[in-house]
Amino acid sequence: MHALIVVAHPDPASLTHAVAAQVAAGVALSGGGHSSEIADLAAEGFDPRFGIDDVAVHLRTASPPADVLAEQARIDRADALALVYPVYWWSMPALLKGWIDRVFTNGWAYDESTESGLVKRLRRLPVHLVAIGGANLRTYARHGYFGAMKTQIDHGIFDYCGARVVTSELLLESPDRIAPSRLDAAQAIGRGLFTAPPQRAVAA
Ligand SMILES: Cc1cc2nc3c(=O)[nH]c(=O)nc-3n(C[C@H](O)[C@H](O)[C@H](O)COP(=O)(O)O)c2cc1C
Repeated sequence: MHALIVVAHPDPASLTHAVAAQVAAGVALSGGGHSSEIADLAAEGFDPRFGIDDVAVHLRTASPPADVLAEQARIDRADALALVYPVYWWSMPALLKGWIDRVFTNGWAYDESTESGLVKRLRRLPVHLVAIGGANLRTYARHGYFGAMKTQIDHGIFDYCGARVVTSELLLESPDRIAPSRLDAAQAIGRGLFTAPPQRAVAA
């Protein structure tokens, strides 16, 4: 089995990249010959801007551009999708949101028409979400931020396309920034990607 681990952070030295590397390490350590690849959207220069060509794709009057087709192909090749990203303004970074806006197209991620209604096309794809936040758990709890993220991202995006969100984790930055427990948690997520029963979403 093969996992596509998408990371959206401009700094290779960030905690976000360290977490993504540990998810990949966990997949390799899980046995069974499972593999993974990291899609580093910032390093690859993915353009997150939803342009006029993307509008035409959404309206089904044009085929997706080459960069979108390439992203869809690598998701099609994967048995599981993991997204690893920093929390920016209580949501995902614009780079990752733009990746979803452009890649999860009408016609590929779902089919929507007045005749047939909504057809969810990503039912085969297990999804693992790992958000890394700088604020503390009390702040998240007081305002219900993580619940809001899960409504918008887990349900609003992935449930809409039929993809099952198996893992939905929020890892909070510790004062020393490289807390082993966060990296251990990331590796455990990787180990469980193809071996563990579905985990319940947790708040921290
Ligand atoms: C533009 C921006 C917005 C941010 N917004 C939030 C936020 O809403 N909530 C939060 O917990 N952390 C927020 N942070 C902190 C990041 O989530 C922090 O960078 C995260 O802990 C990941 O660490 P890393 O950048 O070393 O990967 C923000 C950081 C930036 C740069």
